[in-house]
Amino acid sequence: MNLAGAAALVTGAGRRLGQAIAVGLARAGCDVAVHYHGSKTGAEETARDVRAAGRRAELLDADLYDAEAARGLADRAAKALGRLEIVVNSAAIMVTQPVETVTPDSWDDTLDLNLRAVFFVAQGAIPHLRRAKGKIVNLADVAGFEPWPTYVPHCVSKAGVVMLTKALARALAPDVTVNAVAPGPVLLPDAWDAATREHIRETTPLQRLGAPGDVVSAVRFLLESDFVTGTILVVDGGRLIR
Ligand SMILES: NC(=O)c1ccc[n+]([C@@H]2O[C@H](COP(=O)([O-])OP(=O)(O)OC[C@H]3O[C@@H](n4cnc5c(N)ncnc54)[C@H](OP(=O)(O)O)[C@@H]3O)[C@@H](O)[C@H]2O)c1
Repeated sequence: MNLAGAAALVTGAGRRLGQAIAVGLARAGCDVAVHYHGSKTGAEETARDVRAAGRRAELLDADLYDAEAARGLADRAAKALGRLEIVVNSAAIMVTQPVETVTPDSWDDTLDLNLRAVFFVAQGAIPHLRRAKGKIVNLADVAGFEPWPTYVPHCVSKAGVVMLTKALARALAPDVTVNAVAPGPVLLPDAWDAATREHIRETTPLQRLGAPGDVVSAVRFLLESDFVTGTILVVDGGRLIR
């Protein structure tokens, strides 16, 4: 796919990686529907950067815990931009939950945003993407492959994103490709202290944390590739091969 002139929806585009992906796609030539929920100011910054890159930006607010809102998001993006070729599902939460403290509600909080919403955003996009021979890229996580004892719901949600990506890739072929990027440590949670950050850097084979641009490049690669589907591209500095 040639990204110049394509129309993309990016969820969670008001901050951090989602914001970097939205702006990165604009710099590659995409018009962008900038989804956000709480980060209105951040989403406005994203839109400003998209426009500074010479592309159209449309802001879309939706609470993705609402499955109907998730299912309707692609229609809103297509209406705002006039077409839709690309969906990037980036919105997610990562909550530390020692196993004994997980409740039905906290379980649902993670699974309903990180996995269920990804499915329903994608489902709502199907007619647009089939018509356009479009592409979906989901943000998974190395946590989908590596069991982290105090993040069990998060790990399960991201393992679900891995399988969702593969299953949707089969369901939507040959019209739509569906792939995922599984980042390792790129933008760590703000609450993590300097010692934790240093430990993660030291124990990463490539001896650094990732930069948002590393993830943006991977997303672009999967969008520009027409013979890649059902693939999970790990961008983790080698953590999974330790
Ligand atoms: N950062 C990393 O190093 C890293 C590593 C591995 C995987 N990942 C994955 O990459 C993606 C982006 O990561 P990130 O660190 O940039 O995420 P983040 O900073 O935690 O941002 C979370 C995003 O989810 C959105 N969100 C939260 N609740 C929502 C709701 N109820 N409805 C709609 N949207 C909601 C937020 O939007 P608002 O702020 O507008 O509410 C925000 O844009 C995630 O899927 C994450 O799991 C990131």
